[in-house]
Amino acid sequence: MPRREEPRTRPISPVRRSSRSGRLKSIHARRGDPDDLAQILVTEEEILAKLDELALRVAEDYKDKDLILVGVLKGAVMVMADFARALPFHAPMDWMAVSSYGASTKSSGVVQIRKDLDTDLNGKHLLIVEDIIDSGLTLSWLLENFQSRGAESIEVLALLRKPEAAKVVIDCKYVGFDIPTDFVVGYGLDYNERYRNLRDVAVLAPHVYS
Ligand code: IMP
Ligand code: MG
Repeated sequence: MPRREEPRTRPISPVRRSSRSGRLKSIHARRGDPDDLAQILVTEEEILAKLDELALRVAEDYKDKDLILVGVLKGAVMVMADFARALPFHAPMDWMAVSSYGASTKSSGVVQIRKDLDTDLNGKHLLIVEDIIDSGLTLSWLLENFQSRGAESIEVLALLRKPEAAKVVIDCKYVGFDIPTDFVVGYGLDYNERYRNLRDVAVLAPHVYS
């Protein structure tokens, strides 16, 4: 007779986020050719610690305000998921999908709305949650677009920023990490829809796109 397996229960840890660094290398290996990545730039642990820090600041700044989080699909999915859960209060979420890149690694500057918000922004305090500010062209277009919808205030939170790639100045109140201009993937960021599910942010090896 086949042996019945014990039901598998997951222990509930009092520590919210355990260190997963030991597993990272094998996870990368399973999610694609590790040679595609030139260098791990920001680890999952560093990202989560930074988002906790930013959530504390945002919680303080918006404690008496009607805050709505607006994520920019698809890159900001992971940032939004972890940032929103680090906030100590409920904050509604909405999503906008725009595209400015296609399958290239350079911003075209041409922004196209693929999915609009479901929320009326009138009188709302808006926090745009972004994965990365590269040229800044997408965000500057979005900021203008949101300003015309009557939001009470608009601020930007970006996990990553490439200061040397800026083509327009973006007033970003909450920045996670300033990074060099290399093309990066992971933690939501893709190249050709790949690598989004890497836990860390890594520099994509140039041989992948050249
Ligand atoms: P921007 O308009 O150049 O600031 O960038 C617009 C969008 O392009 C960002 O929100 C990202 O989704 C994507 N992007 C910019 N830089 C990178 C990168 O290094 N890796 C992956 N996606 C990027
Ligand atoms: Mg983005």
